[in-house]
Amino acid sequence: MSIYSKIYEGKAKILYNTADPEILLADFKDDATAFNAQKRGTIDNKGVINCQISSHIYQALEKQGIRTHFIDSPAPQQMRVKAVKIIPLEVVVRNIAAGSLCQQTGLELGTILAKPLVEFYYKNDELGDPLLTSDRLELLQLATKEQVKEIINLALKINEFLKDFWNKCSITLIDFKLEFGLDTQQQIILADEISPDTCRLWDTSQKDPNLRVMDKDRFRKDLGNVENAYQEVLQRVLAVCKL
Ligand code: TMP
Ligand code: ASP
Repeated sequence: MSIYSKIYEGKAKILYNTADPEILLADFKDDATAFNAQKRGTIDNKGVINCQISSHIYQALEKQGIRTHFIDSPAPQQMRVKAVKIIPLEVVVRNIAAGSLCQQTGLELGTILAKPLVEFYYKNDELGDPLLTSDRLELLQLATKEQVKEIINLALKINEFLKDFWNKCSITLIDFKLEFGLDTQQQIILADEISPDTCRLWDTSQKDPNLRVMDKDRFRKDLGNVENAYQEVLQRVLAVCKL
């Protein structure tokens, strides 16, 4: 794999060219960051764990007719993906109030939302990924009105699938972040990853507010046992995918 040239290094992944211009290799890192990289650390085996969780979920989504960038996983921490032009939006879907929604609205942590909330954040580290209004989204021409509509529909469909999938893992899906890209035919496809880095996942049977957390909030809030929680998520995903 080392013969491929690095084209981009993000906070959690390195992207490499391959011999085929339509295929990239994503190498998942153990590095962890939070609060726009103000907090940095590593989570042992995170690269392998997140790559394997994402790979299984993307294959399951493909079976539901959702197009993703996933091709295959040639090594435990590597994913071959379709080369796409990333739309610079972080699409967040929330089912239960947590994180910035609580901080910015005063809603109590754990409040069940009457319907899923779909939010768009501008994927721009320098600006700190600000929340966008639909008018600002239009102003910045980050996506056309039709693309926004399609992204909302896809995000809600993915949410329905994921709620059920995580439920089978005895995990409650609180919220998550998606990124989409355009392929060579300008079709919108799901990119990036779906993992404990990008989802809030609570152990359904655990009521203790600290013990129930199985996602990156353990790292963000220094709750300890981060790797154990990620490993446990992977084990449950593997068990459900075997069924
Ligand atoms: P938030 O409550 O901090 O806005 O996060 C909402 C969801 O998005 C949560 O599941 C974590 C995920 N997320 C990312 O994947 N990347 C990010 O940079 C941020 C801020 C959140
Ligand atoms: N991944 C983001 C960062 O470091 C933030 C987060 O996930 O909390 O910047």
